[in-house]
Amino acid sequence: MKGLKNHAIEVLNGNWKDKIGFSVPCANLYPFQWFWDSGLIAIGFAHFDMRKAEQEIRTLLDTQWGNGFIPHIIFHTDSDSYFPGPDFHRSDLHPQSSKKYRSTGMTQPPVTGFVLEKMYNIAKDKDAVLKFIKSLIDKVYFNHKYFYENRDPQNEGLVYIYHNWESGTDNSPIWDDIWDTMNPPEYTFERRDTTHVDASERPSKREYDHYLYIIDIAKEHNYSDEKIAELSPFLVQDPLFNAMLIKSNESLINLYEKLGDSEKVNQLKEWQEKSKQSFNSKLFDEELGAYVHYDMRNERPLRYLSSSSFSPLYAGIPSTERAASMVQIMMEKFGGDHQYLCASFDPTSERFNPKKYWRGPVWVNLNWMLHNGLKRYGYKDIAERVKHDTIQILEKNGFYEYFDSRKEMHQNGKAGYGGNNFSWSAALLIDLLE
Ligand code: DGY
Repeated sequence: MKGLKNHAIEVLNGNWKDKIGFSVPCANLYPFQWFWDSGLIAIGFAHFDMRKAEQEIRTLLDTQWGNGFIPHIIFHTDSDSYFPGPDFHRSDLHPQSSKKYRSTGMTQPPVTGFVLEKMYNIAKDKDAVLKFIKSLIDKVYFNHKYFYENRDPQNEGLVYIYHNWESGTDNSPIWDDIWDTMNPPEYTFERRDTTHVDASERPSKREYDHYLYIIDIAKEHNYSDEKIAELSPFLVQDPLFNAMLIKSNESLINLYEKLGDSEKVNQLKEWQEKSKQSFNSKLFDEELGAYVHYDMRNERPLRYLSSSSFSPLYAGIPSTERAASMVQIMMEKFGGDHQYLCASFDPTSERFNPKKYWRGPVWVNLNWMLHNGLKRYGYKDIAERVKHDTIQILEKNGFYEYFDSRKEMHQNGKAGYGGNNFSWSAALLIDLLE
């Protein structure tokens, strides 16, 4: 196991850019800083190099806009190995965007709150890390305030995402139902991702047309949240995204209590209560026995099981009864002896594709959340199984971006897909081994 951990450390150090102070998720394929990658990467660094962990978060939060928004990609350097770059995204159209950094005009799951608490828990020198946290925690709070004030038009305590790239689960089959409601133009552009990774493991050209079209609509309105809420064909309350926000609220409450800021604690508790309540009343699907996405534009739940359906365990959202039903359904559909936990999409669905990005493969970040969520609810054995499966697939294949969920595929040949030497696969392995 020591060899695997050392390899993980090598991967993280290899993807670290010291001059600016951040990590790329993966060379060539993702040559910039990504929001939720950065947060999860900092957890790995915290175990062996707290300076880098702190710098990773410092750089990320420095990119915050005047309204509290934090972008999903920050284009620190020029690179022709990625499309669409800063010239397509044009974040400068937003009146409050950062003057210092070029970025996208969309965000990603808000992991920073719980990352700060993780860093505190990992730290040997608690005072030093608390001092670091104190110096920037208000930025994370401001980011949550942004979400509640600008991404919750019906004042429900649930925030929307307006783009599949905001979900983090980019080409999930869940979005197919939304693509069916749209008919974007055929864009002419040169894909760069498929020069690094086999096209069969990446989204299709037609899917990219949808992705670009939603951005064009947002750009037409200078990335105004209000206009996006009114006009974007993609407007979704995502259980993974909202679970990350709720888990981060919980961590901010714990940290502000340590720092003695009762005003922030009270506001966070207010947000938290409302969020949890709506999450449970709106996103739980009794028949499926787990949480699902809600399509606000077309006013309908998107009734599919995915690894996102189980992520609320990590944030302590379900009751113990609901948790039991979630675990049962997960084991029935995702957890058979021939499968590695946890496929990113329902393996019994005809939309399942175990090789294609978020349409089925196992991802280490979701497994890490699931492991911690199952532990939280007392499912020790299944939590161990998730950890064991994760370690085994990494040992067999290396630190790929995603992995085939079918055990037979790991017998001979490559069953790791997407980018190799992928940062969060390495970072979260280090945390799982502690
Ligand atoms: C990509 O380019 O596939 C990224 O995941 C977008 O965030």
